[in-house]
Amino acid sequence: MRRSRSGLLALTLAAGLFAVAACGGDDDDSSNPPAATGPVSGDFEFFSWWTGPGDSEGKQALLDLFKQQNPSVNIIDAVVAGGAGTNAQAALATRLQTNDPPDSYQRHAGAELLADIQATKVEDITSLYDQEGWRDVFPQRLLDMITVDGKIYSVPVNIHRSNLLWYNPAVLEEAGISAPPKTWGEFLDQAATLEAKGKTALTIGPLWTQEHLFENVLLGELGADAYGGLWTGETDWTSAEVISALDMYTEVLKHTNLSEAAADWQPALDPVIDGDAAYNVMGDWANTYFATAKNLAYQDQYNVTTSPGTDGVFNFLSDSFTLPVGAKHRDAAVAWLRLAGSKEGQDVFNPIKGSIPARTDADASKYTGYSAMPLQDWSNPSEQIVGSLTHGAVANNAWKAEIETALGDFVSDGDSQKFAEAVKAAYEANK
Ligand code: GAL
Repeated sequence: MRRSRSGLLALTLAAGLFAVAACGGDDDDSSNPPAATGPVSGDFEFFSWWTGPGDSEGKQALLDLFKQQNPSVNIIDAVVAGGAGTNAQAALATRLQTNDPPDSYQRHAGAELLADIQATKVEDITSLYDQEGWRDVFPQRLLDMITVDGKIYSVPVNIHRSNLLWYNPAVLEEAGISAPPKTWGEFLDQAATLEAKGKTALTIGPLWTQEHLFENVLLGELGADAYGGLWTGETDWTSAEVISALDMYTEVLKHTNLSEAAADWQPALDPVIDGDAAYNVMGDWANTYFATAKNLAYQDQYNVTTSPGTDGVFNFLSDSFTLPVGAKHRDAAVAWLRLAGSKEGQDVFNPIKGSIPARTDADASKYTGYSAMPLQDWSNPSEQIVGSLTHGAVANNAWKAEIETALGDFVSDGDSQKFAEAVKAAYEANK
């Protein structure tokens, strides 16, 4: 039986959240945050990992709108390169430790922000939600996910989808493949055909892209309910079904260019664009790379479908922004957050970013081409919603770091049992 989407979300996302529920930020008066309501001036340091083609265009559009609304503001775009924020998060950790925060920084909504909340690195901005009426326009499931001990600490600007298989239709056609695979087993069959034609079946990049593939192979093999249980302790990592899904991941990796893994997600897409490879599993920021940075025609020069075995499932993540404790330009940061959470801001940012708005009142006419699909699926009551590991939704940072260390070994030794035991032990140690 299918669980309701809210039930599933609660199961999937509660994993890390309950751990902090009893020790969320201090109990200060939550009317504290709202400040600026008119235009702000002076410096505003904005911290993200959105740089490079496919990541920077949406950010720039939103920063441009912020500048337009606040002509005297001086935006310092403190970007740290590296997809999924791997490098940015390390740099941010140092800044937070030394109490030198930027004025607003990017985090994924969900478990990823818990450590900052526990360490009182971010302000409670619940009153901003009340003032802006955001509780009425953000989906309840998202509000539940970002509420800790009754308080909210971040503003989600979008919803991205993780479980997508991007492909080059011409490469499939040339290999006599009529449609992308519906299961990972079918992918393995197609891979043999593609390789016989001298094509790479699936391209891959650095460890975080291997993790991104990993979560979606598990999701495709286990289904939404058992996948969701991986993050709540309900699904046993060492069970036969998980071991078999892990074995499938190892098989899939054999049909990638792992030995020549690309340096980031964009160069991992290039062989697909060039016709040297058929597939890549990546989130929907890839659409901006194909359509905007490379100017390719959707469905003709590139196409996309849900990753194998995940039809009817939406593996989601959300980029969110914070008000750090000790922000040097707090008024500007509050003004920025108001824009990030606004309908205008979200409808300027998301059509360019490849994501859909976190708000439910989007102007649907702006979401055309690829974006029409996630917009429709996200609000379809029969779609099953799960959260992304790689992009911070489901596992707290300590556990996630241990999963990533174990994954590095697993990718090279293929030892499913050893990996499962390591992840299970790390869950117990960090839950
Ligand atoms: C994700 C982030 C996306 C996109 C992607 C590639 O973690 O949520 O917005 O930036 O990384 O860098």
